[in-house]
Amino acid sequence: AGVFTYDPGFTSTASCESQITYIDGDKGVLLYRGYPIEQLAENASFIEVAYLLLHGELPTKDKLYNFDWTIRRHTMLHDQFDQFFRGFRRDAHPMAIMVGTVGALSAFYHDSTDINDPQARTISAHRMIAKMPTIAARAYKYSIGQPFITPRNDLDYASNFLRMCFAVPAEDYEVSPTLARAMDKIFILHADHEQNASTSTVRLAGSSGANPFACIASGIASLWGPAHGGANEAALTMLEEIGSVDRIPEYVRKAKDKNDPFRLMGFGHRVYKNYDPRAKVMRDTCHAVLDELGVRDEPLLAVAMELERIALEDEYFVQKKLYPNIDFYSGITLRAMGFPTEMFTVLFALARTVGWIAQWSEMIEDPSQKIGRPRQVFTGSPERAYVKLGDR
Ligand code: CMC
Repeated sequence: AGVFTYDPGFTSTASCESQITYIDGDKGVLLYRGYPIEQLAENASFIEVAYLLLHGELPTKDKLYNFDWTIRRHTMLHDQFDQFFRGFRRDAHPMAIMVGTVGALSAFYHDSTDINDPQARTISAHRMIAKMPTIAARAYKYSIGQPFITPRNDLDYASNFLRMCFAVPAEDYEVSPTLARAMDKIFILHADHEQNASTSTVRLAGSSGANPFACIASGIASLWGPAHGGANEAALTMLEEIGSVDRIPEYVRKAKDKNDPFRLMGFGHRVYKNYDPRAKVMRDTCHAVLDELGVRDEPLLAVAMELERIALEDEYFVQKKLYPNIDFYSGITLRAMGFPTEMFTVLFALARTVGWIAQWSEMIEDPSQKIGRPRQVFTGSPERAYVKLGDR
């Protein structure tokens, strides 16, 4: 038996070489293919960012047009696919529906599961990016008992998604450009984040040669947890529980108490030991959305801003370098846009699909990659003889 380095939580182990996303956690820098997240969120569309993550370069006008058109053309789901939704209890968590239905895509596209064929990989990538908003919107519509809305391919990615979520067949629905832009920005902020738990899960699942739809379903499952993608849901629930500014000190005290497992949700990050650059853009987006909707006096915003102010000055948080992360302001924003908390992680999964696919493709194309097979430090019983049932 060998002796292996034990690195719980992989805090100092690189699992791959990658050219996609760079994070400098001490400085609070996040780059997609070299471009700062702030500049991309300000200037690019999500589809443009998706192209960048997948192909390594920003698209030319023609390339962007073609990519956008291809994605729009793949938004429909097979008619039979709707039966998957109907099989779920109607109060199912939409993340449960996401895990199940995205995995089920592999049963529909046999032609795109030959992972060694670059063309097949590309078409799988397009299908997943295009169908994810349709699936996510259906998971939502199913949970509230409303009929599914068919995608409209004359609309951009975010507008189409908002319409599929919030339109009802009997009424006209006009997508607000401000909200569509905010949605698009939120997608950009969540598109990739190097080797986090869900991305590592996708890579590990994919390292065995599993089909890409199954790999992305495994990423969605990993993302669901409250320490990862589920934190935005947990952060909003916490802000609601705090409820008013005067109760903040009590919660800050709880978070600092070593004997209390309570943590301030939306604070702290494994990699960022500085302000999460995504959180800054998210905070501005939050203000823009609340302004557009005329709900600037939303009480939870006051709680969030005051909590941030107190925590940033508090010795405990300063010393441990706990800053607001992306999830701190995303919950307030998404709720104001009309999404229930159960949908928050679904939106994260929708956006992160692009990053997962880019990382999965990079792994498949990397000749040095092997099947992921961590070793262990065994701490169980040494060999012993079987004891018959009657003798125990
Ligand atoms: N509130 C209070 N104390 C905290 C918090 C917090 N949110 N986060 C970390 N700490 C303390 C923790 O108790 C520990 O203290 P000590 O050293 O005295 O034991 C110290 O800070 C280091 O924490 P850790 O758990 O060892 O750090 P980690 O890198 O394993 O965890 C984290 C990172 C994000 C899981 C953690 O900060 C956390 O649980 N935050 C709240 C959940 C959250 O907001 N998650 C979203 C992450 S960003 C989106 C995503 O990537 O999905």
